[in-house]
Amino acid sequence: MNQNSRSAPIILAIDTSCDDTSAAVTTGVTVWSNVIASQTELHRPYGGVFPTVAKQAHREQIDRVVEIALARAGVNWDDIQAIAVTQGPGLAPALEVGITKGKNLATAHGKPVIAVNHVEAHALSALAQPRSATNPQAYTGVSDALNRHQFPVLLLVVSGGHTEFILATKLGQYKKLGWTIDDATGEALDKVGRILGLGYPAGPIIEQLAKQGDPKKVRFPLPMTTSKDFMLSFSGLKTYSRNILEELRVQDGLTKQVIIDFAASFQYAVFRHICYKLNKILQSTEIHEIWLGGGVAANITLRRMIRETARAYTKQVAHPNIPLLVPYTKKLCVDNAAMIGVTAAHYFEHRMFAENLADLDRRPRWSVDEV
Ligand code: KG4
Ligand code: ZN
Repeated sequence: MNQNSRSAPIILAIDTSCDDTSAAVTTGVTVWSNVIASQTELHRPYGGVFPTVAKQAHREQIDRVVEIALARAGVNWDDIQAIAVTQGPGLAPALEVGITKGKNLATAHGKPVIAVNHVEAHALSALAQPRSATNPQAYTGVSDALNRHQFPVLLLVVSGGHTEFILATKLGQYKKLGWTIDDATGEALDKVGRILGLGYPAGPIIEQLAKQGDPKKVRFPLPMTTSKDFMLSFSGLKTYSRNILEELRVQDGLTKQVIIDFAASFQYAVFRHICYKLNKILQSTEIHEIWLGGGVAANITLRRMIRETARAYTKQVAHPNIPLLVPYTKKLCVDNAAMIGVTAAHYFEHRMFAENLADLDRRPRWSVDEV
C-alpha cells in the first residue's frame, strides 16, 4: 500500500438511471461490493424499459440494495466518507429515486454527495479492480491507477442507451468524437432480437446464437460510409433486417438455422460498423489506449473485433500497440453502482462535492463532454 491508497476514501455509490437498482461500496478503484437488483423480468412483457414501472421498482428495492452493499463490504456508516449518485443521463423518474435516496442518506449521516455522469462511469469502468489480497492494483486510488495508463485514451461506451466515441486527454476532460444518430447498439440488438422472437434483452442471446452461426450468411450494408465523420447509425441495419427476414420467411421459412445465421450476420454487421468508424478515428487521432464500457462491452466478439481493428492499424503504420481495456467482470459492463463509485473517487480527490443538496436535480440528458 502506498500513501494514496491509504487515503483513498470509502464511498457508497447509487445508480438508478434505467432499469437496475444498484448500490456499491468502493475505495479508489477497488470494488468492495456491487449489488444489482435487476428489473429485467418486470420489463420483459414490454420488450423495453417502461419508466413508471422502473421508478416503482427502484423505490421498492433501494433500501434493501443499499443495506446489502454495506453488509457485503463489511462497513458501517462511520466508515463511509462520501455518497456518490448518478445524476444523469437516464430516465428522469428512475434517476429521481437514487438522487433522493442519496440526498436523504447524506443528510441523515452527515456525508458529502458526489454527482456522477453515468456515461463517464461506463467509460471508466475498465479501471475498476477487484478487492483481493493477491491483487496489488486493487489497493490504489484513482491517481495511482492512472499512473499505469497513457493518455490520450479513446473511451468507447456501447450500451442499451448510448454508443459514443469519447476522446479523453486526461480524466475529466472529454470530447465526443462520434455517437449514434438513432438507436444505441444494445437497443438495435434488442429490437432486431424482438423481431426474431428471441426475448429481452436480446444482446446476450444473439451473442450465444452467433457462436453457432455464419456471420457472412446475410450480407448487410455498411452504414455511413459516405460521411467522413465518426457518427454511427443503426436504424438502416434494422430496416434491412426487417426486409430480409420477410424474404427469408417467404423463401425457406424461419428455421432454427436461418435464425442462428441471421443473428450471427446481424451482430457482425453491427460490430463491423463500429470498427469501421473506430479505424477512421485511429487513422486521424493520436490514441494510446482504448477503454471499453457499457452492457454490450460484455460481448466477446465485439472485444475481439476491436482488438483486431487496433492491431491492423498499428501494423499498417508501425504504431506501438494500442491496448484494449475492458471491465474485469460482466457485472461492471451492465448498469452498476461500482462504476459510479470509482468515477466519484476521482472527484473526491479533487474535493468536487455537490455544493447545495437542495439544488441537486436530475440531468436526464447530461452529455459526457459537459462534466
Ligand atoms: O449498460 P446497460 O446495462 O444499460 C444501459 O445503460 O443501456 O446495457 C444493456 C444493453 C442491452 O441492450 C443488452 O442487450 C446489451 O446491453 N447486452 C449485450 C450483451 N450483454 C448485454 N449485447 C451484446 N452482447 C452481450 N453479451
Ligand atoms: Zn448504462
